[in-house]
Amino acid sequence: MPDKRVALITGANQGVGLQVAKELVAHGLTVLVGSRNFEKGEAAAREIGTGAHAIQLDVTDQASITAAAERIRSEFGRLDVLVNNAAISNTGRRPGETIEEYAKSTRPSNVSLDEVRAVWETNVFGVLAVYQAMLPLLRESTTANIVIVSSGVGSLATNADPTYYYRNMYGPVYPASKAALNAITLAMMIELESTPIKIRLVSPGFTSTNLNNFAGTESVEDGSREVVRVALLGPDDPTGTFTRWENVTIPW
Ligand SMILES: NC(=O)c1ccc[n+]([C@@H]2O[C@H](COP(=O)([O-])OP(=O)(O)OC[C@H]3O[C@@H](n4cnc5c(N)ncnc54)[C@H](OP(=O)(O)O)[C@@H]3O)[C@@H](O)[C@H]2O)c1
Repeated sequence: MPDKRVALITGANQGVGLQVAKELVAHGLTVLVGSRNFEKGEAAAREIGTGAHAIQLDVTDQASITAAAERIRSEFGRLDVLVNNAAISNTGRRPGETIEEYAKSTRPSNVSLDEVRAVWETNVFGVLAVYQAMLPLLRESTTANIVIVSSGVGSLATNADPTYYYRNMYGPVYPASKAALNAITLAMMIELESTPIKIRLVSPGFTSTNLNNFAGTESVEDGSREVVRVALLGPDDPTGTFTRWENVTIPW
């Protein structure tokens, strides 16, 4: 069994996941840089340096998830931190189309069901599939911590408030996928209540990444800070939280 804590981050070849990987390595963890494209994962791990290892992991491909879990078991024997970070915001926003224009073309009345299914496949079912595959490895750890990277845009309480400025942006594709992710996470939280395994929901800031065509207003360093903070929480810290920087509670 390794001395260092072992972390797996899904979708860690770019954006928030890559930044979290860098910082967990800097904090002395061994980090498995999940990437659906192995070469991109290798490039990211090389950029991070010693302590980072690429691992092929497509969260929509059960064979890939199973192979990743088997590799972690044979090489490390356990998992201490799982950061479920991988997500997509859409499958085909037209070049130059703004987030507002995309929101108008994806209302409940006109959205393509294929678009909803594709985004939910990654953002909701992908997270559940990775949870199922990695849970036996997390049970081998005495300090297991699961981080679910959600988003404030998935908050049902916030969007149900008629005075909320951005509620026009709440649609069935990405925002509702994060609301569904929160719902599934609540079920995981209830399942894990009687175990030492901690599980927390977290939202990065509005961060300049590929997910939003780099329209985010926060740097990747600032936008990722809460994810890093929560990933480094210990077994005595509170579980079942949903927060943004710094430790501000987001209503579900
Ligand atoms: N950026 C923001 O403002 C913001 C705000 C709130 C929440 N978030 C959340 O933060 C997390 C990270 O997003 P980001 O902004 O860093 O986006 P990003 O830069 O687009 O990174 C997303 C990552 O997920 C990976 N991914 C997508 N589909 C995958 C799949 N099927 N299997 C495995 N990996 C897959 C991508 O891989 P490829 O490189 O192969 O595409 C990429 O590495 C997401 O959960 C997002 O919803 C972001």
